[in-house]
Amino acid sequence: MSDGSRGTSDLLTEREILPGLATDRLGRNIVYFDSTDSTNAQAARLAGEGAPEGTLTIAESQTAGRGRLGRKWESPPGVNLYFTLILRPEIPPAAAPMITLAAGAALAKSVRALYGLPAAVKWPNDALLHSRKFAGVLTEMNAGASRIRHVLLGVGVDVNMTEDMFPEEIRDISTSIYISRGEKADRAELLRLFLSEMETLYDNIVSGRREIILDAWRSLSCTLGRRVTVKGLWGEKTGTATDIDASGGLVIRGDDGEAGTVVSGDLFFD
Ligand code: BTN
Repeated sequence: MSDGSRGTSDLLTEREILPGLATDRLGRNIVYFDSTDSTNAQAARLAGEGAPEGTLTIAESQTAGRGRLGRKWESPPGVNLYFTLILRPEIPPAAAPMITLAAGAALAKSVRALYGLPAAVKWPNDALLHSRKFAGVLTEMNAGASRIRHVLLGVGVDVNMTEDMFPEEIRDISTSIYISRGEKADRAELLRLFLSEMETLYDNIVSGRREIILDAWRSLSCTLGRRVTVKGLWGEKTGTATDIDASGGLVIRGDDGEAGTVVSGDLFFD
């Protein structure tokens, strides 16, 4: 990379990320790994050692990248974004799902703004392009009964993956920004915009303006108004997704006309 310039290197060190970063706290302290097991695991370690709020752990590749429900997150080197933010919000633990919703909304908004692509959020933690998943959020919380010690906001974005890089079993449900756009994207630029959008939403969460997050998520949703089935350990519910509630649960109107809220599970479009 040439001195002082931006965009000539496609690495994700602080040298590529910090110039032009518009945030006050998120991403101001960066811990970079060429390769690591999982940025969430590294962030947990750093959070335990007292790392400041906003600390960003980021890796070019992960050897044990993880998704929700113990699933594997494909993390090949140099093409995507794998990062985790350490947050220390002074909010009740029950409000933490707002952070997951905010991250999905911040990401979809950034992808729309930078590339003009119709990115959308799918409950509970996915971002889609043309009905295929290109990003996921894994939020892990360390909290007591009434107080959060920290939240680890892990985000994986398939930025420049080519189709053949996806394992066959997820190839037809996955995509990347590159596949949708037909052109490689600048990962540092996307990360900077995400951090800035996320900080705005996060500040609203912390100051109690959670309706702003819900409204942002609703406006970027490809979930609401659709017929869905949500399957969880508790069973399954089918109906029309009508809204998300103040704690991030999905409101589903069943075929009997009765509305119920689900708080966890995998969502399938019928
Ligand atoms: C999901 O869709 O199931 C969530 C995927 C989250 C993946 C990211 S990649 C960075 C961070 N480190 C991990 O091990 N997982 C998250």
